[in-house]
Amino acid sequence: MTRIPLILDCDPGVDDAVALLLAFASLDRLDLRGITTVAGNVGLAQTARNARMLRQLAGGTAERVPVFQGCARPMVREPIAADHFHGESGLGNLAIFEPALPVAPGHAVHFIVETLLREPAGTVTLVVTGPMTNVAMAMRLEPAIVPRIRQVVFMGGARAEAGNVTASAEYNVHADPHAAAVVCGSGVPLVAFGLDATHQVRSTPARIAKLRALGSVAARAAADLLEFSAALEWNVATGRGAPLHDPCPVAWLLAPELFELVPCHLDVEIASPLTLGHTAVEFRPQPGRALHVRWATRADDAGVFDLLAQRLARL
Ligand code: BDR
Ligand code: CA
Repeated sequence: MTRIPLILDCDPGVDDAVALLLAFASLDRLDLRGITTVAGNVGLAQTARNARMLRQLAGGTAERVPVFQGCARPMVREPIAADHFHGESGLGNLAIFEPALPVAPGHAVHFIVETLLREPAGTVTLVVTGPMTNVAMAMRLEPAIVPRIRQVVFMGGARAEAGNVTASAEYNVHADPHAAAVVCGSGVPLVAFGLDATHQVRSTPARIAKLRALGSVAARAAADLLEFSAALEWNVATGRGAPLHDPCPVAWLLAPELFELVPCHLDVEIASPLTLGHTAVEFRPQPGRALHVRWATRADDAGVFDLLAQRLARL
């Protein structure tokens, strides 16, 4: 099977960290050219360190994947952190250490541009699990990359679900709505995993225990991260655990049959302070406009957790 060439852009973040472990555990299927980090859940220095920590915990060939540091601030708005959901370090209760390997030289935005210009057009996928600042800045720095991107597969937005930071906006889009507007308005094929899908993929004590039982350092780290989120989110009344947002785009690349996608238009609200970062997802075709977005409406939650367990068992 051909490996999928991709760059993973993230702001770890507890669920980004699990997405990273899933990607590092799947290098037989994913040709991961690099990790690019952005300020988001926590500050830029922390997200880059956290990505390097996860790379070290994954070990093996993961250590060959370069980690590039990207943008420290959103394009226009003031930064908003989400450390109340991810802990002060961004990685919940994980013991923080300084990773042995440094960040790669050069800026993440340059790495994205150079990779897309070098590789054959239409081959490199961008997976984005944080604010879209790096990708939007790359598109603005070198517009010639836009038609060369195979697809942007991202976690962000909400339609059927309400927002998770404001009444109508999801965190990643709200944290840099102007970047999301640039990317979503670029015409590049998009595959969007918003809260409608990711809220269906929730941890349970049994699912976390299954990961922990795998026994490897990486699997125990994943269990610790999910336990941290579960402690914040576990709702005794509904029995709903913490949603596993960011692993969904990576899981889709590995097992697309786990999700249902519907073609749509997607526009990002940037004019209204009240609904800033709202994603207007429209399933009805609009004359003269290509339906270049696929919106995830359903996720097989048990399937995603099985995939995670199967993959982490390889680390
Ligand atoms: C998104 O927001 C972040 O806090 C998470 O890492 C995820 O990417 C969910 O809204
Ligand atoms: Ca994230």
